[in-house]
Amino acid sequence: MRHLLSTRDLTRDQAIHILDVAEDMADVQTREVKKLPTLRGKTVVNLFFEDSTRTRISFEAAAKRLSADVITFSAKGSSVSKGESLKDTAQTLAAMGADGVVIRHHASGAPQVLAQSDWIDAGVVNAGDGTHEHPTQALLDAFTMRRRLHPGSSRGKDLDGVRVVIVGDILHSRVARSNLWLLRTLGAEVTFVAPATLVPFGVGSWPAAVSFDLDETLRSIRPDVLMMLRIQSERMNAAYFPNAREYARQWGLDDERLTALGPDSIVMHPGPMNRGLEISAAAADSAQSTVLEQVANGVSIRMAVLYLLLSGEREALA
Ligand code: CP
Repeated sequence: MRHLLSTRDLTRDQAIHILDVAEDMADVQTREVKKLPTLRGKTVVNLFFEDSTRTRISFEAAAKRLSADVITFSAKGSSVSKGESLKDTAQTLAAMGADGVVIRHHASGAPQVLAQSDWIDAGVVNAGDGTHEHPTQALLDAFTMRRRLHPGSSRGKDLDGVRVVIVGDILHSRVARSNLWLLRTLGAEVTFVAPATLVPFGVGSWPAAVSFDLDETLRSIRPDVLMMLRIQSERMNAAYFPNAREYARQWGLDDERLTALGPDSIVMHPGPMNRGLEISAAAADSAQSTVLEQVANGVSIRMAVLYLLLSGEREALA
């Protein structure tokens, strides 16, 4: 595998291999010297056409901890705002000698276009494209679940039989899509819960159960993992969205639902969070919440992905 564009492309063995390499990378993070020399001499370009905090910083930290040179490009303040195309931007980066390109783009499919083009000869990692996919987010989520559910012995394990409920703005969520494909590959059961207006057309053909009633779903499924999604106001047509108070009352993780969930279930959120809308402050900061673990694990996963794509161990993902 030369690129990481979608979790749909990963076999169970490939996914477990990435998670296991991320365990090795997490071990490196516990050392006094957190750097490996593996990508010395390689250049990774972070190409961000959409805003990001976690993903951009985490890819930058991951590449630096593998000793790569890192160029971070943000569309704001670049010649993209003067109308420069993806092709011309990519060819400019190629001329600077990029070995890997991490791309976030508002258009679904932009990373695929770049990977299939002859504009640049580099491994391409999708860091979130439109409403399509966010594969490294799903990998770090699976890594976090595996560590919480198999403490101390997660290497080599999948998520067979784990019950995952994903709640919220499924319609616009690339995180939900990437999680669905990866979680199913790893053997987990997935249920989506959302208002009817935030469920994508065609969801009936996806390998997930769908519910519109959060309380009934929590009672009947008793999830091991409850993943709350951000309401993506920036992609929202007002007609899609119930008012905020109504949304929080029916589909938000409030303190009462957190108590009903029980202490053994974990609460996830990819961030950024709308506190008080899809998740209460108490739930976000609770002992069950893995929000900050997810961020920390993101560096290990992104180190693993960059290492596997750029170090020559690519055959392991072939
Ligand atoms: N989870 C996530 O992708 O966060 P950012 O938008 O901050 O990168």
